[in-house]
Amino acid sequence: MKIAVLVSGNGSNLQSIIDHVTQGKIPGEICLVLSNVVGAYGLERAQQAGIATEILASKDSGLSREEYDIELDKVLAKYEPDLIVLAGFMRILSYAFVKQYEGKMINIHPSLLPKYKGLHTHQRALENKDTEHGVSVHFVTAELDGGPVILQAKVPIFAEDDETILAERVQQQEHVIYPLVVKWFVEKRLTMSDGAAFLDNALL
Ligand code: GRF
Repeated sequence: MKIAVLVSGNGSNLQSIIDHVTQGKIPGEICLVLSNVVGAYGLERAQQAGIATEILASKDSGLSREEYDIELDKVLAKYEPDLIVLAGFMRILSYAFVKQYEGKMINIHPSLLPKYKGLHTHQRALENKDTEHGVSVHFVTAELDGGPVILQAKVPIFAEDDETILAERVQQQEHVIYPLVVKWFVEKRLTMSDGAAFLDNALL
């Protein structure tokens, strides 16, 4: 099964997935790493692993969201991915693009969804004096950060935490749960139907 990973930045989640593939823990192939940001470190990680890369710069492209996504789809189509993994891809995708890949595209979001959709999730959890926080992997649907949740990991929040420490604690869990979900999908154990996620035909 062919996996395309979309990144905008550091790519630590990408790295975790690369490592799992290299170690044979995910029985698939990363066919492409694509970034909308020139110089994203995730691209370098891909190159170091011998994976094909593409850049489709979104900044100053002059394209509307819909036009950009048409170009994105053209690039992706060349690689015929079975799964699209959004790993810190900091763009909202158009309705048509999301519909086209529904059930084949997953995202990782640093909160316990449905809590804290959108940005600054760690800061918001701290400001609200939450005692726990976490990360969610979900199928991508037209509603931002609103698709069916596949897997979550919780972490505690301690009184002395700041955003950096909390983000690190959450990221450690990201690097565990994202490869696991990718593995399930590649093993054809994970599906989406009627807006719900199923693992081994059981509703999640
Ligand atoms: C992660 O925190 C992820 O939850 C969010 O973007 C960040 C990407 O980090 N969607 P990295 O680029 O994988 O290091």
